[in-house]
Amino acid sequence: MTGTVVAVDGPAGSGKSSVSRAAARRLGFDYQDTGAAYRAFAWFCLQSGVDVKNQAEIAEAVPGFSYTIGTDPDGYFVQVGGTDVTDDIRTPPVTSIVSSIARVPEVREHLIRLFRGIIAESGRPGIITEGRDITTVVAPDADVRILLTAQPEVRAARRAAEVDGANHVDIAAQLSARDAKDSKVVDFLNAAEGVTTLDSTDLDFDQTVDAMVELVRATI
Ligand code: C5P
Repeated sequence: MTGTVVAVDGPAGSGKSSVSRAAARRLGFDYQDTGAAYRAFAWFCLQSGVDVKNQAEIAEAVPGFSYTIGTDPDGYFVQVGGTDVTDDIRTPPVTSIVSSIARVPEVREHLIRLFRGIIAESGRPGIITEGRDITTVVAPDADVRILLTAQPEVRAARRAAEVDGANHVDIAAQLSARDAKDSKVVDFLNAAEGVTTLDSTDLDFDQTVDAMVELVRATI
């Protein structure tokens, strides 16, 4: 049975995953990272030798793909067919192809069905699901809908701080290239009607989590 449904969207490097997970932990909610599912499918395509430039081949790989994601914010993991890929899906080979994989309609249809199933089956008082199209496509009727954003240079600086030896300018270019590709599929740069924008440009991590938790508490 589903309790409170919270939908969070935002661009690359906006902190959606870490903020949503921390907010879920504070609220005693489940947490669903949908970007991880697209990444897991991209990893699966690479492992299976799928030609990732060929949309028909990508679509054909969909039925053979199964993944498990930990929705406990304290027990986060991602598995593909029994293999733990939690770290592997964050590596450059996956990040560089995930946008091309995610725009294939058969991939989106399949994963969106699974995302909705996970929301429907959540046994906790609520679930925070984050991605790019959660407020608009996956769960447009969610109780709370948030667009988490931050100025591009702030997102790049935060991401660079997470990666050893990363060059700020390279990271900024990578984030904006991925956003440009992804926003052709779904608009996550502008808040849809009824969606609250949470701009974290001038907030630190804890303040952003506080603000998200407040938005949820104001609704329940
Ligand atoms: O959130 P994250 O950066 O891990 O997402 C990885 C990729 O998955 C995005 O760049 C995008 O191509 C895709 N994605 C998507 N729809 C979502 C979540 C992620 O297309 N709801």
